[in-house]
Amino acid sequence: MERLQKVIAASGITSRRKAEELIVSGKVKVNGKIVTELGTKVTSSDQIEVNNQIITKETKEYYLLNKPRGIITSTSDDKERRTVIDLINTSARIYPVGRLDYDTTGALLLTNDGEFANIIMHPTSEIDKVYLAKLEGNIKGEQINQLKNGVLLDDVLVKASRVKLKKINQESNTSMVEITIHEGKNHQVKRMFETVGFHVEKLTRKRIGIFDIRNLKSGEYRKLTPKEVQIVYSYQSK
Ligand code: URA
Repeated sequence: MERLQKVIAASGITSRRKAEELIVSGKVKVNGKIVTELGTKVTSSDQIEVNNQIITKETKEYYLLNKPRGIITSTSDDKERRTVIDLINTSARIYPVGRLDYDTTGALLLTNDGEFANIIMHPTSEIDKVYLAKLEGNIKGEQINQLKNGVLLDDVLVKASRVKLKKINQESNTSMVEITIHEGKNHQVKRMFETVGFHVEKLTRKRIGIFDIRNLKSGEYRKLTPKEVQIVYSYQSK
């Protein structure tokens, strides 16, 4: 027996929260009868309809993509630009786990498993998101320490869990910096560097937890192995 909202979310049509809204607003039927009670339990033999469409359980799919520049991280776009979904050959209703900006490249996970996505994105899982940033200007130890001690973004203190200066180029007046964070706020890395006075010229996400893009060319992707998915689930109770 499983909760109705969980079964609806597992079908891939919507998130669990949206499923709850659909139930409460009378859009869900179990065996032909409208159910508005959120605690309702169902079994696999119950027929569930959402907006009069019978739902079926979608098998879970998981991908790691090396996102190229100039592609949007979204499932659709009103300006008809290419999205990351267009790069993956599947008919499952997958979606990106978090976001990379239009001009940011690198590691992006995609799935139709909402629980998996939550674990990756939630800061309490403490999953590393490792970025390589090319900055305009030469960064100093003092500013690196500021990033480690925390900077304010929308009145919330966010810290880099690691910052490593990889290279300073005096000629082009740029710095290459590796920064590791655990959250995924909008434009977080660019905004963190802006608060200490640096503009990010280029940004690549090298790694998300155990998933790095070393063996994937730009635009290439691969399926995650069942073992890898299991490892992510083991972070849940951290
Ligand atoms: N931080 C940013 O500023 N941009 C990204 O795409 C990802 C993290």
